[in-house]
Amino acid sequence: MTDKLIIFDTTLRDGEQSPGASMTREEKLRIARQLERLRVDVIEAGFAASSNGDFEAVRGIAEAIRESTVCSLARANDRDIGRAAEALKSAARARIHTFIATSELHMEKKLRMTREQVFEQAKLAVRFARNLCGDVEFSAEDGYRSDPDFLCRVIEAVIDEGATTINIPDTVGYAVPELYGQFILNLRQRVPNAHKAVWSVHCHNDLGMAVANSLAGVMIGGARQVECTINGLGERAGNCSLEEVVMAVRTRRDYFGLTVGIDATQIVPASRMVSQTTGFVVQPNKAVVGANAFAHASGIHQDGVLKARDTYEIMRAEDVGWAANKIVLGKLSGRNAFKQRLQDLGIELESETDINAAFARFKDLADRKSEIFDEDIIALVGDESVTREQEHYRLLALSQQSAMGERPHARVAFAAGNVEKHAESDGNGPVDASLKAIESMVNSGAEMMLYSVNAITSGSTESQGEVTVRLQHGGRVVNGVGADPDIVVASAKAYLSALNKLHSNAERVAAQG
Ligand code: KIV
Ligand code: ZN
Repeated sequence: MTDKLIIFDTTLRDGEQSPGASMTREEKLRIARQLERLRVDVIEAGFAASSNGDFEAVRGIAEAIRESTVCSLARANDRDIGRAAEALKSAARARIHTFIATSELHMEKKLRMTREQVFEQAKLAVRFARNLCGDVEFSAEDGYRSDPDFLCRVIEAVIDEGATTINIPDTVGYAVPELYGQFILNLRQRVPNAHKAVWSVHCHNDLGMAVANSLAGVMIGGARQVECTINGLGERAGNCSLEEVVMAVRTRRDYFGLTVGIDATQIVPASRMVSQTTGFVVQPNKAVVGANAFAHASGIHQDGVLKARDTYEIMRAEDVGWAANKIVLGKLSGRNAFKQRLQDLGIELESETDINAAFARFKDLADRKSEIFDEDIIALVGDESVTREQEHYRLLALSQQSAMGERPHARVAFAAGNVEKHAESDGNGPVDASLKAIESMVNSGAEMMLYSVNAITSGSTESQGEVTVRLQHGGRVVNGVGADPDIVVASAKAYLSALNKLHSNAERVAAQG
């Protein structure tokens, strides 16, 4: 058995399924490029048949990515598989990932199919997919809660049809490490042609054990692919977190004895990009990528680390991409310096027009903020990733008055398509007044589910505020993110960004957990 552990990233598919984490095509493309820099083996770019938007996102990623394998999810039917194959046509390396549920509960209540029907459909789906693509993954949805005898039959049949990877998801996060590991091992031992496929684990985090379960699937079960997401993003409590699995395997190589092809210095940039794009803030005490993951507050710890780093540190912050906040540019910096900094940060803007637009934003920010950090540039370019066509609403001007003991009042001007709108309103605070002013013109009727403000760079009130707004309307949940040194302006930008996503109104077909 090989000692290489394949890292399959599903941030753009399973991660994106978490309510409010949906991303535009451009946002997905930007994250896919970062995943390639991170050197993940497989990027699950989306679920091509779920919407035209997702089809285009998978197609764009397949065109742009040359190193990692690009994969699309597909239900076990010809239409989905055909759409996946079409979207992946120009990929340097393509994979079709087809799935069907195999647990009694899912087959009876959700699919309303008999065992035999599921068995036949799984076989036909893999046969069809193999005719279109040499790399086919089969997932038995709710696999961990399936009858092992039936599961063995299905797996043997799909391997005979040419499946190259077999994935056994713990779809609902019900597993515990030892039992999950034994479950995989038992399947591998009983399926006669098991050696012809790579075995994969895919664990959800409902009981907080997704990483532990995945690693048990590897160590006890013999799986050699882990499916995971940046920051553990995913539906409900999320998926197995990529950074934790990768750093566990690297830091405890003595125990795991496995290699991963990941460039770990790209972990923190990837984490930031995903968090800024989706508005899902990383908790400060999150392993590896949390703001406190390498901070030593107690005097005893600080003293120890100063004397010998490994007294309290098992990993080095710089090895996973943490850099001290660096002042990189200021208001006198020119376009070339800005362009160079983008390159150093691994940010590729598509055209000179995009670079010019980003540079104009940078100049505007530098006029108002004396020190510009890498994080500011990443946020600024993040804003830029919303293309002009999708940006139906754009903030033009905002002013507000507030004084202690008085009711704040805001005036806002924004573009709605080609029309300029002006609105004003009172509110409980300046942010409330500004958003109420916008809403009085837009009349979206959306319900606000989340409003949060974070400092982009820590340690100073000079930092830009990054605001996330989550809106719900007509069964859709979207996030908007906005950054600015003025948090009222950042809030208005975030609100308009969420309204833009609601406005784009792409229909999606849900996959599953
Ligand atoms: O959780 C799940 O079962 C899935 C499969 C489609 C892999 O996401
Ligand atoms: Zn899943």
